[in-house]
Amino acid sequence: ATGMVTIDPGYKNTGSCESAITFLDGEKGILRYRGYSIEELAEKADFLEVAYLLIFGELPNKAQLEKFYDDITEESQVDEEMKKILDGFPKSAHPMGVLSSLTSALVAFNPSTVDVSSDEAMYNSIVRILGKFPVLVAWTMRKKMGLPLDYGDDNLGYVENIHKMMFKKPTKDYVKNPIVIDALDKLLILHADHEQNCSTSTVRITGSSHAGLFVSLAAGVSALWGPLHGGANQAVLEMLEAIKEDGGDTKKYMAKAKDKNDPFRLMGFGHRVYKNFDPRAKIIKKAADQVLGDLGVEDPILDIAKGLEKEALEDQYFVERKLYPNVDFYSGIIYRAMGIPVDMFTVMFALGRLPGWIAQWREMRLRKEPIGRPRQIYIGENHRPFVPLDKR
Ligand code: SDX
Repeated sequence: ATGMVTIDPGYKNTGSCESAITFLDGEKGILRYRGYSIEELAEKADFLEVAYLLIFGELPNKAQLEKFYDDITEESQVDEEMKKILDGFPKSAHPMGVLSSLTSALVAFNPSTVDVSSDEAMYNSIVRILGKFPVLVAWTMRKKMGLPLDYGDDNLGYVENIHKMMFKKPTKDYVKNPIVIDALDKLLILHADHEQNCSTSTVRITGSSHAGLFVSLAAGVSALWGPLHGGANQAVLEMLEAIKEDGGDTKKYMAKAKDKNDPFRLMGFGHRVYKNFDPRAKIIKKAADQVLGDLGVEDPILDIAKGLEKEALEDQYFVERKLYPNVDFYSGIIYRAMGIPVDMFTVMFALGRLPGWIAQWREMRLRKEPIGRPRQIYIGENHRPFVPLDKR
């Protein structure tokens, strides 16, 4: 007898919480952060402003934004001992595994961040991770490229400083070259939150046991790594590369994607909630054209992507399943044009999603949500007596 329990695989029809952070309408392709449309925020706000909005609920005024960035900058040093942990990884380690481990290891050097019983303590753990996570992101990239680590330049803006820690471009370049920073800022905003997706639900349920913010985020990084979730942006580029190697034969990959016996899926397509165009994909597709144009980058992969999209949008199998390009379909093309290695794409997704994870974790703690503990329907063996070893 299963009593009151009903099973809902993947929680497709289960609401896990009430939240005031992000609203999305899958049918109409609407996405809003704290009531502001993603289209407006991507155009008119910058990433740190959106981080403040998601976490604290309001767009910051000038003084609030300046104090926020000063407090984050104060906390942007990472303990030198952490480099020993980074050194322990082989260069071949996937950056998402390195990032998740380093995020978890941070607690050892910031033990006070586990207790968030006061507003100040919670605020302090939030500015600490907003200051240190970008350093860890840059370190994972520099490690895999065998390049020296760097703490960046506090005179730069938040996203500029991240770019500098990753690429170590001369500081003067950032004044001349806003294209890349503007595109990166927009991409990070578009990834910043997405209500109760897999990795955010992971952050919430981990934090619901009152495990600290940092380890809850490390759990979110791990969940995001999967190719069905954030890992899709890397898988999209690998798929497009394979199609290019195959002479641009998109039909073969479309057939594979529709073949029930073939586990291959068209990466960057489909979504649990959006049964229409993912509004983020629309903006990123436009940005891809713009950035590659501005950078003078001719990338045949972009043409293959557009061809594949066109085919899929006209294909019966995809149309009847309402499969459209999602946030991951075009983002990797821009990261590649920026010189970001393909196995760093999901790390960039994690960087963008950081404020959303923090906002959702904070809301869960402030609302004193109970520890997450679902039930099950037992389908195993009935009661049976133990069998001694010599009788088996
Ligand atoms: C992200 O949740 C979020 O908000 C996530 C995210 C965020 O911002 O946090 O938006 C970010 O993760 C975007 C999604 C990135 N993943 C991919 O691009 C991987 C490819 N997409 C699929 O694996 C899939 O579409 C999911 C995982 C995104 C959604 O899966 P669902 O909702 O569980 O849907 P499903 O697997 O039940 O598929 C429904 C049908 C199936 O066919 P039938 O069994 O009904 O015949 O559609 C088919 C699937 O086989 N299908 C696909 C497909 N996606 C679904 N067939 C081919 N190619 C695909 N991409």
